[in-house]
Amino acid sequence: MKSADKTLLRALRGETLPVPPVWMMRQAGRYLPEYRATRQQAGSFLDLCYNPDLATEVTLQPIRRYGFDAAILFADILLIPQALGADLTFVQGEGPRLSTITGKADMDQLRGVDTIDETLSPIYETVSNLRAALPAETALIGFAGAPWTVATYMIAGRGTPDQAPARRMIYGDPETFDRLIDRITDATIEYLSRQIAAGAEVVKIFDSWAGTMPGRHFARYCVEPVARITRELKARHADVPVIGFPRGAGGHAIGFAEATGVDGLALDTSVDPAWAAATLQPHVCVQGNLDPLLMVEGGDALRRETRAIVDAFSGGPHIFNLGHGITPDADPDHVSIMLETIRG
Ligand code: CP3
Repeated sequence: MKSADKTLLRALRGETLPVPPVWMMRQAGRYLPEYRATRQQAGSFLDLCYNPDLATEVTLQPIRRYGFDAAILFADILLIPQALGADLTFVQGEGPRLSTITGKADMDQLRGVDTIDETLSPIYETVSNLRAALPAETALIGFAGAPWTVATYMIAGRGTPDQAPARRMIYGDPETFDRLIDRITDATIEYLSRQIAAGAEVVKIFDSWAGTMPGRHFARYCVEPVARITRELKARHADVPVIGFPRGAGGHAIGFAEATGVDGLALDTSVDPAWAAATLQPHVCVQGNLDPLLMVEGGDALRRETRAIVDAFSGGPHIFNLGHGITPDADPDHVSIMLETIRG
């Protein structure tokens, strides 16, 4: 099947389909026993990300089990900081740890964009493996973090509840903050461009912490970098479709979609589908937004909430997804119930 005919790409071009294409954030992950087995074999999480054979295998696992309409490359948004020279480890049960960017001196130590492929070339190999291995109808999604979200981890050196260290740098050292955002933006353009050249048919930009950006700075640090990435990728790669995910951005989502030029807008769990159908969907394909907790809860609630989202978005272009990643305590059988409810 040609790329253009795959349901995910048709929805992103603005087609209203009788059954929406469906995939899940973190669909390759710890809720699947086969993922846990491969992860064990690989060693650490980063070993898995940089092993093209095993990263291909875990990306394919949920496709084999469920037949999703799209596969998402198995990797992480924090590989870009690593490629720029940050030390990165994942501490079991605690999440990522990175060397920190506290000011100009740390920023001066970061590597240039021209050397990122020395670190990231195994990822491009995974993408091209995947393109060869996927079923003909399954679309391949590449991804990266949005510069703001990536910067929050680089500045704090870890995940934080409120991204306070990065927000303080916006006020206290705007020069360093601007340089960091611009460096990540440039690196992300090269990284995603290489993913597309290797076979990714769509790319998604995860701004998981967009909701904590002070509103007065949203245009400069959440919109502008994603707009630049989108513009550059579309210029280099024949209008390749881009999905944006400004998680928690609320009312900013309207201006975000318009100003960035993304083809798809991923909605988090907090967004009311009725509001989004009336306000956003006339302008852009929407993706989302089932509460991931329903993959733990299951039962009638899962069927009811799934149907409500399908119905709310049935009048326009829609990609069914969760409002955030599926969690390790989800029941794999609940995913099948969700799919039966969507596909009938
Ligand atoms: O969606 C997918 O299946 C593709 C793979 C993918 C992963 N991370 C694998 C992963 C994607 C798209 C991401 C994106 C990512 N990574 C984001 C943005 C999306 C979001 O969830 O908001 C962020 C913020 C990260 C950074 C990150 N990676 C954190 C904070 C953690 C630790 C928390 C956790 O869930 O353990 C990770 C680890 C991670 N990334 C895992 C997976 C499958 C779990 C690692 C393991 O197997 O031990």
